[in-house]
Amino acid sequence: MGTLWGGRFQEEASELMQSFNESFSLDKRLWYEDITASIAHITMLGDCEIISKEESELLQQELTKLCEAIGQDPSLLTGNYEDIHSFVEAKMIEACGDAGKKMHTARSRNDQVAVDMKLYVKKSLTELSELAQQMIKVFGAKGEEMADVLMPAYTHLQRAQIVPFSYVLDAYAAMFERDVKKIDQAIELMDESPLGAGALAGTTYEINRQQTASLLGFAGVQHNTLDSVSNRDFIIDALHCCSSLMMHMSRFAEDFIIYSSQEFNFVELSDHFSTGSSMMPQKKNPDALELIRGKAAKVISLLNAMYGTMKGLPLSYNKDMQEDKAIYFEALDTTTACVKILTAVTEELKVNEDRLKETIHEGFLNATELADYLVRKGLPFREAHEIVGEMVVYALDKKTQLHELKLEEMKQFSAAIQEDVYTALHPDTILQQGIKKDMLHSHVKSV
Ligand code: ARG
Repeated sequence: MGTLWGGRFQEEASELMQSFNESFSLDKRLWYEDITASIAHITMLGDCEIISKEESELLQQELTKLCEAIGQDPSLLTGNYEDIHSFVEAKMIEACGDAGKKMHTARSRNDQVAVDMKLYVKKSLTELSELAQQMIKVFGAKGEEMADVLMPAYTHLQRAQIVPFSYVLDAYAAMFERDVKKIDQAIELMDESPLGAGALAGTTYEINRQQTASLLGFAGVQHNTLDSVSNRDFIIDALHCCSSLMMHMSRFAEDFIIYSSQEFNFVELSDHFSTGSSMMPQKKNPDALELIRGKAAKVISLLNAMYGTMKGLPLSYNKDMQEDKAIYFEALDTTTACVKILTAVTEELKVNEDRLKETIHEGFLNATELADYLVRKGLPFREAHEIVGEMVVYALDKKTQLHELKLEEMKQFSAAIQEDVYTALHPDTILQQGIKKDMLHSHVKSV
């Protein structure tokens, strides 16, 4: 392996150490960012007359060529290199000779890897946000499609009150919307270029950090150079965005795994996203959703792994930080796959409207509204609550529902109850009075 530090050493690292130390197999994924950041760096070196204009232009040309070549044929990213930075530099020395050897002037792999990762994280978070917004749209469209369908909602997984089916989707859309905002905030916070920090203490050359920052599309420069090469907060923030998305998707998965069981039978998942059993012929299992729930645990653990990596590190760069790539790529790929799958699962979700129509008349979902009715008739709420509780016991005993009791039966509990109670207990009335416009997240309109 051609290393970047031969002079100080009399012997090569053992093969065991070389393969233990290498990160090329993973960080080759940063090829575009490494080449782009190198182009910005040598452009600046030329403009600041640290290398000649000709050398700068030659390197810019060759780096652009390399970028195009890899774009067309990613299998070019191969060979016995320590990391992507060594690979690109070696290719430039091959192509430009001495000019190639000047590319690393006023730069260290410490600021180089930090800038590469920042560019990659910014780009990948933006793509993840676009996918999440796509998913929110699909939730909205499914909500529109199911606008008239009502269902029981739960606390403690016990029947609580009636809501429109689309209101459940609206709740999840609101969570995902916050995740999209988290991504925007994370990108804004990381939008400073570490390039020019050198190994840790800047460089003796008169470089122009502002120029490389602008060329790379950063809002500004990360000024303290010790901080620039030490900082992996931005990866932790990105992992937090992934974890939050995964946690919300996992809760959705849990809800819909329950809803798709025979016992609930509220929804049916498309065959495209279910699997069968090798032994039990009748089975249709919600594997896509279960995998989302399972993978959420992994992504959240990866956030924890990154915190663990960073919490004890002294200033500034330490090799432990190389692990950030394995952690981030795994979390990003998992989250991206889950957002895509959940979007498709929701798009193809079948809602069992007949079953839902039955369920909203069972389980005392209108008990709270009956108490509210009594309050409107002049009773204090606590008293009304007590009375309705007793009515529930009575109805349970008679194996019936509150709205199925006769008026005379109801009147035994409170003389305030009149004929209009039946309208008050009807699902349509409850919904009109219950879910107000300002209780909707804007994306699912027709609840
Ligand atoms: N492969 C290294 C990483 O990902 C690049 C930086 C190496 N820097 C160093 N001083 N050894 O962290």
